[in-house]
Amino acid sequence: MEEAKNSPAQAREARKRVLSLIQPTSVPTLGNYLGAFRNWSAMARDYDCIYGVADLHALTIRPEPPQLRRQSMEMFAMLLALGLRQDNSVVFVQSHLPGHCQLHWLLNCCTQFGEASRMTQFKEKASAHADNVNLGLFSYPTLMAADILIYQAHYVPIGDDQKQHLELARNIAERFNGLYGQTFTLPEPFIGKLGSRIKSLQEPTKKMSKSDPNPRASVSLLDSPEQIVKKFKSAVTDSEACVRYAPGKDGINNLMTIYACCTGKAFEEIEREFAGRGYGDFKAAVAEAVVEELRPFQEEFRRLLAEPGYLKQAAAEGAERAARLAARTVDKAMKKMGLWQI
Ligand code: TYM
Repeated sequence: MEEAKNSPAQAREARKRVLSLIQPTSVPTLGNYLGAFRNWSAMARDYDCIYGVADLHALTIRPEPPQLRRQSMEMFAMLLALGLRQDNSVVFVQSHLPGHCQLHWLLNCCTQFGEASRMTQFKEKASAHADNVNLGLFSYPTLMAADILIYQAHYVPIGDDQKQHLELARNIAERFNGLYGQTFTLPEPFIGKLGSRIKSLQEPTKKMSKSDPNPRASVSLLDSPEQIVKKFKSAVTDSEACVRYAPGKDGINNLMTIYACCTGKAFEEIEREFAGRGYGDFKAAVAEAVVEELRPFQEEFRRLLAEPGYLKQAAAEGAERAARLAARTVDKAMKKMGLWQI
């Protein structure tokens, strides 16, 4: 992916397909933004990109119906606010396409109980929601595999936490191709060097998560500048009071990563910039950088929310374009598996 612009290899690479989705479970965090969204927008410039709202995945934790409806629409608006438009990408909502569920079933029949049981996120979510360990939660990774394989995606930009699910998608694709003949492209993860695991501001050994009950642990993409400043002020650090990237300094390492992502500065440059200054100054600078990074996104999001008619029309257009691509793969997979087609 590092070829010089306009070389024949670059042109071939540019036609490769990129796909990723996000769940509309609550307002996304700075972790989602730095680990996924930033790469999504950057890749939209050079690749054929398909991005979506994974509302079917969200059903696994039984959200309130009106809330799911509103959050799905808002998440779709957020994708557009990132600069992802139907003219540079295909942007859609998963449940608007029947193909994802169709392929999901076919892939379930090619996935072993044992390999689905080994998924770390299933184990974590099953223990966090012990009263609702539904079959959807168990087969969540095969629906994710269907999302990816249905578009014959080459690259999947994700944060570190989705790596295991992507490996499973590759294994399922390889197995299917081996059993029935070449059908699916083998997808590769695209995990950015910086920001692939943004940590909680309160417990910096844990990832920053939308579902963290402590509101000070994560920065939401819709937080006001005042809230962002307050959250960084109370971020957990250490007692050394020296801005330095080093093993064991999880809190400061996390803040340095966030600052580096937002300003483009290298860690050494940040260390020089804050040499001899305390954590207070540094935290204020990180907050300021995040506020500036999110400002245009937040403004565009608010503008789009005021245009529900436009959002509906854009979602319908995205679903139509995605459906054309998806139908080809579903048809091929059904035929290969021996389903009677009329
Ligand atoms: P989700 O909705 O939990 O998160 C969306 C994206 O954000 C990344 N991410 C992070 N990156 C860095 N630091 C963090 N703290 C952090 N938290 C989340 C996630 O890795 C993800 O890339 N199962 C997926 C959604 C999905 C999907 C797909 C993704 C459904 N189908 C097909 C890719 C391809 C999920 O729950 O992501």
